[in-house]
Order: sequence, then C-alpha cells, then structure tokens
Amino acid sequence: MALVAVPQFVYDDALEPLRAAGHELRVRTDDHPLPHGELVEFVAGADALLTILTDRIDEAVFAAAPSLRVVANVAAGFDNIDVDAATAAGVLVCNTPGVLAESTADLAFALLLGAARRVVEGDRALRGGEYTHWVLDQPQIGLDVHGKTLGLFGCGEIGQAVARRAAHGFAMDVCYHTRSKLDPEVERRIGARWVEFDELVEQSDFVSLHAPLTDATRHRFDADVFARMRPTSVLVNTARGPLVDESALADALADGTIAGAGIDVYENEPAVHPRLLEQHARVVLLPHIGSATTATRRRMADVAVANVVDTLAGEQPSHAVNRPAVQSN
Ligand code: GLV
Ligand code: GLV
Repeated sequence: MALVAVPQFVYDDALEPLRAAGHELRVRTDDHPLPHGELVEFVAGADALLTILTDRIDEAVFAAAPSLRVVANVAAGFDNIDVDAATAAGVLVCNTPGVLAESTADLAFALLLGAARRVVEGDRALRGGEYTHWVLDQPQIGLDVHGKTLGLFGCGEIGQAVARRAAHGFAMDVCYHTRSKLDPEVERRIGARWVEFDELVEQSDFVSLHAPLTDATRHRFDADVFARMRPTSVLVNTARGPLVDESALADALADGTIAGAGIDVYENEPAVHPRLLEQHARVVLLPHIGSATTATRRRMADVAVANVVDTLAGEQPSHAVNRPAVQSN
C-alpha cells in the first residue's frame, strides 16, 4: 500500500482506481493552491503526487518525500515541475497528452475567430444597448479568417489539431515553425508546411502559439517580433503565457503594431498585465480554459490517475516525460 497525496481538488470519483488498488489517499478538496511551505508539509512522506498546474513541485518537495516515485500532473504542460530535480531524485514526472489536444484546438480557434470577428465586443455592445440598426459600416467590422495565412509556432498534437481545422475547415494557408520538421506524411495530413521563424512572423495573418515553455521559448514573442508582424495580424496564445512578453504585447496592441489578440494564458497567472486589460478592439482574454470541457477535464484526471496506478503497480506509466533519464540514474 502506498500513500498518494492530492494537494488540490480533483474529481473524487476519478480517484476511485487508487482506492480500488488499496492505496491510502491524503486528499485536499480545496480548489486553490497551498502556500509552498504548506504544500511541502502536505506531501511529506508520500509515494505519489497527483498535481495540477498551480502546485509548484521542486527540490523541497522531493526532499520532504524521499520515497516519492511519481508526480502525475493533471495537465499536458509540466513547467510547474522541476523535471531535472525530479530526475535527480529518481521520480517519474507524468503528464496527460492525447486527451486535450482537440478541445484546446477548439478554443484556439474560438479565440482566433473571436478576435478577428470581434465576437465579444459585439456581444458587449448589444447588451449595452448599442445595436440600434444595421449599417453597412458597423462598429464591429472585422478581419476575414477563411483563406488567410495561419502560422503555428510549435506543432505538437495541439498545433496539428489547429492546423487541420484551419486547412480543411477554413481553407487557410497553414505554415508552422518547430525546431525539427514534421514527417512529410504528417505535413500532408494536417495541411501545413515548415517555414523559418522569420517567415512565420512576417507572412502570417494569424500567429498561434503551441510550443512548450522552455528557456528557449520564453519571451520568444517580444517587441522586436511584434514589429515584424503584419499590422493586420492577430496573435493567439493558448500555450503558456511566458512565451510572450506581455508588456510588449500590450504596447503592440495599443499602438497598432498588430491588429488583435486572443489570449488564454498569461505571464503571471492569474494576474493579467493591466495595460492588456485596457485593450478591447479585436482583443479577447480568457481565463486559461483551453482544456476546460466536461469530458476533457475528466479524461485528464483519469489519465493522471492511471499514471499513478501504473507506476505504483511497478508498470511503466503511459506518459512519463523523464523515463529514460530516471532509468539511467
Ligand atoms: C493546461 O494548460 C495544460 O497544460 O494541460
Ligand atoms: C447580412 O445580413 C447580409 O445579408 O449581407
């Protein structure tokens, strides 16, 4: 029997396989993160952790739980976890790929369409009583999406799901930039071609971010990059906030360097740069809800729980991000 610590709310019935396997659960049902010191105390002595994005898992956690074998994040991203420290401690880090790409791609498209066609502004105007009669030059005149060029920065499973929607549903010209090119067969299937970063930012009407947060991608979209984007272009970010210099984005929107933005993730969540909040025209801001559908959030919990159950049973979990490193320790 092992001790599994769950420091924040996870659907109780999703935890059932852990109980069925005979594990002891230490569960916090609050849906806000513990201060880090209290988190460290909460996980002391655990064999497994089921974590979410706002749990910061670092060396102090590994020191407090010397028998820890796995940290299963209920998320695709895992930048809240110090993976090097986990590997050094012999702890597997698991995520939940495979179940949230389509929902997140749907939301990226909602942001793209919402910003381009000024959906949220229109709703606000109507509710505010501003819609008195139809005129040819309405205040919510926007940008076309169909047939335009979409540039994807990063093209893993979420980027590929966005590419398919864009190429097949909206007849968009889709290009992507990644460190290594995708297989030509995959490119054909999703309808996207590889381009240099410069071409991506200079030629795209819409730029959508789908890269993980790493030292190499942090602030990749800064004032210099915005200056090279088209003045009619729209930035979409459903990946991680720190890919973008948020203050530079606020400036670029305020002075018309770019035309709009659809943003779901922020540099210092839950804070949003105050000058970004002042921008309304063609700007849609959402509270990190890329994967937030009933079915997808539940599947994420199920996958994370399965990662814990498998590891504690001595099997390979399906989604360990540092398995070879841990095994060669
Ligand atoms: C959400 O941001 C995730 O990484 O799953
Ligand atoms: C708009 O409703 C149109 O008919 O063009």
